[in-house]
Amino acid sequence: MHDSLLLFGATGDLAQRYLFPSLLHLLRDRLLPDEFRVIAIARSEHDDASFRDWLRERLGDDYDTSLVDELLRRIQYVPVDLGDADAMAASLSRFADRPAVSYLSTPPNLFASACRGLKAAGLLEAPSRLVLEKPIGHDLASAQEIDATLKSALDESRIFRIDHYLGKAPVQNLLALRLGNTLLEATWERRWIESVDIIVAETAGVDGREGYYADYGALRDMVQNHMLQLLALIAMEPPAAMDTDSIRDEKRKVLRALRPMTAADAAADSVRGRYGPGVVDGQAVQGFKHGGHEDVETFVGLRAWIDNWRWAGVPFRLVTGKRMPSRTTEVVVTFKPVTHWLFGPGERKRARANQLRVRLQPEETIELGLMGSLAASEWAANELQPMSLDLAMLPPKRRIAYERLMIDALKGDQTLFVRDDEVEAAWRWIDSVSAAWREAGTPVRDYPAGSWGPAEAQPFLPRTLTTHNGRKS
Ligand code: BG6
Repeated sequence: MHDSLLLFGATGDLAQRYLFPSLLHLLRDRLLPDEFRVIAIARSEHDDASFRDWLRERLGDDYDTSLVDELLRRIQYVPVDLGDADAMAASLSRFADRPAVSYLSTPPNLFASACRGLKAAGLLEAPSRLVLEKPIGHDLASAQEIDATLKSALDESRIFRIDHYLGKAPVQNLLALRLGNTLLEATWERRWIESVDIIVAETAGVDGREGYYADYGALRDMVQNHMLQLLALIAMEPPAAMDTDSIRDEKRKVLRALRPMTAADAAADSVRGRYGPGVVDGQAVQGFKHGGHEDVETFVGLRAWIDNWRWAGVPFRLVTGKRMPSRTTEVVVTFKPVTHWLFGPGERKRARANQLRVRLQPEETIELGLMGSLAASEWAANELQPMSLDLAMLPPKRRIAYERLMIDALKGDQTLFVRDDEVEAAWRWIDSVSAAWREAGTPVRDYPAGSWGPAEAQPFLPRTLTTHNGRKS
């Protein structure tokens, strides 16, 4: 296990909110190596002491002081301008004394120069590793350009592309559920499944990240990575083994089988929205400030088609939005109706499709919607009613997704990281969607904050979402 972490973007939002707290948790649980050290790197002019003070304040009072002290003792701060490869090499080469993991928690436009600086500093020599935050580029061409620079410095086996959704335990559970149960394994295909919904709804807005968002929008911020990774895990063929490349091979095949969107499909298969002022969690909130970038969506609904034998004709609806009425990340698999209906017309009216609903956030639950007669009178075995088997999962310990990913990067396990060809396949599809929008002039429709998106989004939302989690918009 490597024990030297160079954290670029150490004063950034992600580092404050998730990366340093993750390190604290790992330290608390004695999961880090004895000699573990962090070289915190950013542009601000701190020295070790002032950075430690700054970080202590950001970590707040939630942690044991001696634990925080221990983490801070292991941190050194180095101010570096990532745009200047020579300066980087000069300030960082002293840390090439042992194999390191360099973690670029920075905007993607800095990846190439950071990579050159790290190489010049000797920090990318084998067996050192490089971790990159999403987004990798802005489209296929820019992602390929970044990739070419990375590959000129180190090989794929030492590049770790983070998609933090893969570090979430309930996301991994999707695979366990699918592949560990005959019941699901046998029915996981077009003959039995009507549709699949993947929803990532957030109550948070874009506040403070308007600049980034204006360039990316929900399509590139959420769908290109998190949602397509969820789709790949749900739709991939069972891998021959649960090893790194067997899983990544199968995910790539699914991503490549996504049917490119054309301008002619754009109206039926997509909807874009942008939140205006409204009320979320009882609080009045402002609308998205697009600063003149009119063509940016904070909500997107897509109907994706996977052109292969298993999924031909099954729509995968992907919906994500900011400023929704409730925070909900879930996958809903809707099964086809029974082949032949033996019960009365009343039952037929009440009949609901079997549905498997796996909720990943905020709480972890599994619901299986069935039909049965238990809810009717004891004399009426044929009076069918919808019923539901509910399971609330209480994880032994809730971890920040980054805890798992940092440990895996230090150990060198790439299973939960995204391979180059997956990123490319995902961008290829995303590029088809943005080109289709451009060509078709797909409008960005306004919706009030605190609603489930614009009215045109209704066909993309499963009924269970809007009825369980708040008013319909
Ligand atoms: C990030 C996006 O990758 O994921 C954010 O950039 C989004 O816009 C976040 O809010 C959602 O992550 P989570 O773990 O809160 O669902």
